[in-house]
Amino acid sequence: MLYYIVHTKKIIRFLVCTLFYIGSGECRDTDVLASGRDTEELATDWAFKITGIDLETMRIEGGMGMHTPSLTRENALALLKTYNKEPFHIQHALTVEAVMRWYANELGFGEEADYWAQVGLLHDVDFEMYPEEHCVKAQELLKEAGVADDEIYSICCHGYGICIDWEPKELMENVLYAADELTGLIGAAALMRPSKSTKDMELKSLKKKFKDKKFAAGCSRDVIKNGAERLGWELDELLTKTLMAMQAYEDEIAKEYEVQVGN
Ligand SMILES: [Fe+2]
Repeated sequence: MLYYIVHTKKIIRFLVCTLFYIGSGECRDTDVLASGRDTEELATDWAFKITGIDLETMRIEGGMGMHTPSLTRENALALLKTYNKEPFHIQHALTVEAVMRWYANELGFGEEADYWAQVGLLHDVDFEMYPEEHCVKAQELLKEAGVADDEIYSICCHGYGICIDWEPKELMENVLYAADELTGLIGAAALMRPSKSTKDMELKSLKKKFKDKKFAAGCSRDVIKNGAERLGWELDELLTKTLMAMQAYEDEIAKEYEVQVGN
């Protein structure tokens, strides 16, 4: 909301330019035909040239988004635990929550870190009880719990191309898409180590595990590679950052796991 107030003038200017473009005849039918794009897209481009505002970028930069979580953390945990009884699933949720928080801070979205973290915590809320309806049943469960539509989208689009056709759009959604499976791979690789920890794991050994298709075969290498591509990152960058995130939060995740699962 704060963003809207701060940037109201800019947004009005942008909208006026867009409407002027459409209404003034600047946009010719021949332009539409030649570009293969629609009037609205051309108007957006034109207004961008005039005002320097790109609505999509503003959203990605946290402007239009300025997301806040729909639920308190306590209520989000209660929701998670209503539909997840397996300790492994609770641990995965806590891990992805922490990794998303790390990424929010790392990528300059610290103000939205609670939102990124909540999306991570709830991303698999329906998976244990409704695996066949993953990312579809979740929409109903989340709605019932009072989660806002944009957060439901952010949560459910991580199943893009697998169980849902909602494409990740925002940076946060693409980070979740890319890191989710990878946290599973890193967690499994840590368990193979004498330390049982990520802290002494190096990129080289993670890459070996990544290449070994038989190791943690359930963690889709294609989704991870595709995720890196969507982010415009080299695979190594995604592996390095996600490993760093898990290292940074390993102790906190373990403590939280004790609290939530009580083993
Ligand atoms: Fe997941």
